[in-house]
Amino acid sequence: MSAHPQPHKTEKATSNFWQEMNKPAFTLAPMEDVTDTVFRSFVIRFASSGYLRLVMSEFLSVDGFLHPEGGEKVKHRLLVHPRERSLLDAKNINIVAQIWGTDPEKFYRASRRIAEEYAFDGIDINMGCPMKKIIKNGACSALILNPSLAQEIIQATQEGSRLPVSVKTRLGMRQWETEAWIEALLAVRPAAISIHGRIQKQLYSGEANWDEIKKAVALRNALAPGVVIHGNGDVFDIATGLRRMEESGVDGVMIGRGILKNPWFFAREAPPANPQQRIRLLLEHARFFEENWQGIKSFALMKRFFKMYLSDFKGASQLRALVMPLNSYEEVENVLMPVLRNLPEAEV
Ligand SMILES: Cc1cc2nc3c(=O)[nH]c(=O)nc-3n(C[C@H](O)[C@H](O)[C@H](O)COP(=O)(O)O)c2cc1C
Repeated sequence: MSAHPQPHKTEKATSNFWQEMNKPAFTLAPMEDVTDTVFRSFVIRFASSGYLRLVMSEFLSVDGFLHPEGGEKVKHRLLVHPRERSLLDAKNINIVAQIWGTDPEKFYRASRRIAEEYAFDGIDINMGCPMKKIIKNGACSALILNPSLAQEIIQATQEGSRLPVSVKTRLGMRQWETEAWIEALLAVRPAAISIHGRIQKQLYSGEANWDEIKKAVALRNALAPGVVIHGNGDVFDIATGLRRMEESGVDGVMIGRGILKNPWFFAREAPPANPQQRIRLLLEHARFFEENWQGIKSFALMKRFFKMYLSDFKGASQLRALVMPLNSYEEVENVLMPVLRNLPEAEV
């Protein structure tokens, strides 16, 4: 793995940036095997100043991170490439590490080490992942039914990291638990709560319920006005995000799958319209992916990004069919460079 030096946190990091975020605030959701430092670098580069306020790492298990031998296998999730770091600084975007687990003492130790050794502005705790293999041990969304442990975990992370600690969660397991769950979270004053408006059993089915998110905002207003609330779920364009903010009263909106449909989500100007630009970006992305992740992540994970670039122009789907079976940057380059050479010089 390329060992990028991770500068120590700055003074700025200890302030509560969640409260200072200018509005309208959009954040990039953590997505495993999607929002790593390579992809985030592109999303941030494409973002216009002002819309994107915060990004998060992929979720990292505190057990894995603290494991004497296993740690190296998961630490890449905390990597912030110098390219990403300079874009974050230039655009004044915060970055938060997301962690998960069940043992408060491990949260204390892991968050303390992350705060000391890495340059994140805050720590987020995953209390929303619905996957069976994760929740069977009581982690992530299973904590919704164990609020006292959830509170202990938040407090341990606050004490361990001394950074702003936020929670990302859903609003129930088998049924909606909005009131009891949000009250329990508010009682220990996380800096922010990002709420995906679904319950665990839905996984990704149905629609995100923004009325329940609005209920959470009302509870916050009554019980702990200092806690920031962001809403999340099924927002696929800026206009919808702005409407959700207006209707529900959330302080910001978090974007997940929308970024895979449109990596220019946070840009004010229209996405590049010509195939030349899109193909060049794909090649640049694939090269950066391979340079950074060779021996760590399979090139197959790069394929989910092919569609983002190879769409919205004539012949895009044929090109996709050509590159999908390929397994390295070199193979992709060998197919796409001749295509680029045959296209007329585009006005950029
Ligand atoms: C591929 C994928 C990976 C995800 N990984 C994480 C994760 O690591 N941590 C987390 O809190 N949520 C994770 N999520 C959930 C998203 O952050 C987000 O809450 C969810 O996709 C709903 O938002 P959306 O409708 O904007 O996509 C993941 C979602 C997807 C689709």
